[in-house]
Amino acid sequence: MPELPAAPRINPSILAADFANMQADLARIATADYVHVDVMDNHFVPNLTFGPQMVERVQATSPIPLDVHLMIADPDRWAPGYAELGAASVTFHLEAATEPVALARRLRAIGARAGVAVKPATPVEGLYDILDDFDQILVMTVEPGFGGQSFMPETMPKLRRLADEARRRGSAVWLQVDGGIAASTIEQAAEAGADTFVAGSAVFGAADPEAAIAGLRATAAQHRH
Ligand code: DX5
Ligand code: ZN
Repeated sequence: MPELPAAPRINPSILAADFANMQADLARIATADYVHVDVMDNHFVPNLTFGPQMVERVQATSPIPLDVHLMIADPDRWAPGYAELGAASVTFHLEAATEPVALARRLRAIGARAGVAVKPATPVEGLYDILDDFDQILVMTVEPGFGGQSFMPETMPKLRRLADEARRRGSAVWLQVDGGIAASTIEQAAEAGADTFVAGSAVFGAADPEAAIAGLRATAAQHRH
């Protein structure tokens, strides 16, 4: 019997949570797949969030595994530390890394899934020959730095090309989108080939985050690539 495709993954971003009530907000998203943790350094992006100490506490408190998104300069130096503290997945930006393949191998050696992210204007063709070195590719659907921005549909052709290429090569890499994902936009991202969806405002801004997660997952499943 052919294997059924995995259900689309929904990863709520705690950038939209209440930083003073993190434990309670983490409990509200226990039905999600991963908790998406946005680390920003006020250098790679013009905003500052938190670093390893905070991520370690989120790790200790979260009912679900961590999907860490590093929007920081010099990930070659800092990313392995997030894998060491137990994050299930660590994604760094291609634009910031000096040796992305070597860094991905180090992350995997520590036991994390290795992810690479591209900003909206960064081409994906350079990733085609190194797909096997990554467990996840994050196609940003907003300029990284802030939650609550509008989804950029112009990133979809690039995502579709990447998804087609990954399929052609028989790659198991997960394709993630992040930024402006909501009930009104998740359909086009799923159709273009995403299987993993980050949503901040659409989950934590909802009266019932669990219902929002279930709704996003169902819509994505109906519109698979
Ligand atoms: C933006 C972050 C996103 C952000 C998404 O730089 O990487 O993860 O939290 O927030 P929404 O879903 O509100 O666009
Ligand atoms: Zn993010």
